Amino acid sequence: MRIEVAAIAAVLAVASPLRSLTVAAQSKDRGRELVEDVCTYCHNLDRLRGKELTRDEWRGMIKGMISEGAPVTDEEFSIILNYLAKNYGKKAAR
Ligand code: HEC
Repeated sequence: MRIEVAAIAAVLAVASPLRSLTVAAQSKDRGRELVEDVCTYCHNLDRLRGKELTRDEWRGMIKGMISEGAPVTDEEFSIILNYLAKNYGKKAAR
């Protein structure tokens, strides 16, 4: 029993810094991943290209897509919004 507890503690000690590294690496491209994943359920990304919407317009657009059925959590919403505002935003705002 004691050995098991020690083993679990050792695994956790090694795993948690690794895990936060992985999370950090993922979040860098998380916006892109989410958009490529979630926003291509119903149409391809050509729909997004050349739109150049403002951040507020993208906010409204994503909300509209959610009402179409896009599965976006609150957390994903802001990640997607940041990504779209930055990469598909108005040229002047870049
Ligand atoms: C559940 C299906 C679905 C998902 C998921 C979805 N969309 Fe859409 N999208 C649609 C439909 C249906 C239309 C066409 C209806 C329309 O033009 O109003 C559309 C059209 C669009 C358009 C073009 C609108 C226009 O006025 O030309 C954009 C931009 C867009 N989607 C962005 C997104 C983004 C960004 C995401 C991811 C957050 C997304 N969509 C996810 C269903 C979806």
